[in-house]
Amino acid sequence: MSRLLLVSNRLPVTVKAEKDSVSVVRSSGGLATGLSRPHERSGGLWLGWPGDVSRLTDAQRAQVESQLTGLRCVPLYLSASEVSRFYEGYSNRVLWPLCHYMLDRIPRQDRDWEIYRKVNERFADLVVRHYQPGDTIWVHDYQLMLVPGLLRQRLPGARIGYFHHIPFPSAEIFSTLPRRQELLKGLLGADLIGFHTVSYVRHFSGSLLRQLGLDTDIDRIIWDGREVRVGAFPMGIDVSAFEPLARDSGILEEVATLRRKAEGQRLLLGIDRLDYTKGIPRRLLAVQRLLEREPAWRGRLRFIQVAVPSRTQVDAYAAYREKVDELVGRINGTYGSVTNVPVHYLYRSFNERQLVGLYRAADVMLVTPVRDGMNLVAKEFCAARPDEDGVLVLSEFAGAAAEMDSALIVNAYDVEAMADAIETALEMPEDERRSRMRALREGVKARDVHWWAASFIDRLQGLKTMAEKGL
Ligand code: UDP
Ligand code: G6P
Repeated sequence: MSRLLLVSNRLPVTVKAEKDSVSVVRSSGGLATGLSRPHERSGGLWLGWPGDVSRLTDAQRAQVESQLTGLRCVPLYLSASEVSRFYEGYSNRVLWPLCHYMLDRIPRQDRDWEIYRKVNERFADLVVRHYQPGDTIWVHDYQLMLVPGLLRQRLPGARIGYFHHIPFPSAEIFSTLPRRQELLKGLLGADLIGFHTVSYVRHFSGSLLRQLGLDTDIDRIIWDGREVRVGAFPMGIDVSAFEPLARDSGILEEVATLRRKAEGQRLLLGIDRLDYTKGIPRRLLAVQRLLEREPAWRGRLRFIQVAVPSRTQVDAYAAYREKVDELVGRINGTYGSVTNVPVHYLYRSFNERQLVGLYRAADVMLVTPVRDGMNLVAKEFCAARPDEDGVLVLSEFAGAAAEMDSALIVNAYDVEAMADAIETALEMPEDERRSRMRALREGVKARDVHWWAASFIDRLQGLKTMAEKGL
């Protein structure tokens, strides 16, 4: 089998420098957690950024490099200016809000395009340096949208795939971007372009027509004398890793302790990176609304919200953090007592075992982003429930909603409707909870991350490259 070269901005591990020590820790976020196990199985390389190494001594850097080599990860180091202008700037101040339909968050003047292009070139150079004939190259996500095109110029016969992990917005939204054509052309360097849902595929085709006049057959485009395929490949999770954890006796003891400490209260759970797309304020308002209109629930609910620090140097994230802090304080101030507060807010990250414990303990899981490419947390929750209990409340604006219609689907902009859904979930009879969870688990098991990776790669490898066509 050919070697797989994964290329993404973030590696599956991030360097963590403390006062006297340095280590690599698992990265958070769906791309890194999702692709980790396909990478372990593939035996190939993963090229990407290991996080900030600027404060490391030479010896520490050598130590990190040897750990990365052991994990078959090839680092691309970003300078401070590249972090601020390529990663925080163009990727996370322009492309991220654009793809999540939040045009008012985009700076009026875009000054970081050139550096975005240059860093994409650096990634392409690194891939070319490691490429061996016969390798399959799989580029990931919005930070690297120009890389497929740059690689095509340098390696015309290579097999190149691209996967977009976040929503692809409607053509109307995408057309507002000054660099819309360059980005589309960059993606068209790939042989296969993947999205999580059929809607994103349609949106992409709409943009190709509007911006480049390309009439597509939805899944097939002729560009620059080549055939480019497009498809929906909904990403899954590693169920085989989650299931045993959800039955692990140590974790089950933790679950029992958590429930005991909740003293008969019902547990609501939210787990997200602290990102303005995740809908945390409206979710908090929905919990507040429920407590306000139904006094019977006061003192009987505990809402655990995990918020993983993310992109903290981007101002919109800092402002969002303040907003969430303030709301949590307000709700706890109004509905808490000296012995008990309704919202347990944890601004930190957890490892997989701890997450499974939380998933397994929850009565209701609240996944209510205002926009989300897929949302793997929704799937992890179901995989962690071999007891077939627990209710998932899921936003219709998460890609996951296209597959998980046995969840309670909500409009994440409608606070009152979310309060209703939380109440319905809390009062749902056991047989309905079980039948919904069984259906959800079947879907999550059938389309796990290995199925996802294999379907994309099989499709990519099944396509004839230009070299094979003798062009
Ligand atoms: N995650 C984690 N530690 C945490 C919270 C979340 O490792 O404390 C992981 C979680 O298990 C999931 C991923 O981060 O695999 C989040 O992926 P998702 O698709 O839900 O959202 P994203 O962060 O990619 O927007
Ligand atoms: C989302 C994106 C990923 C990104 C992750 C974490 O899942 O699709 O590309 O890696 O968020 O964000 P970060 O900026 O920390 O890499």
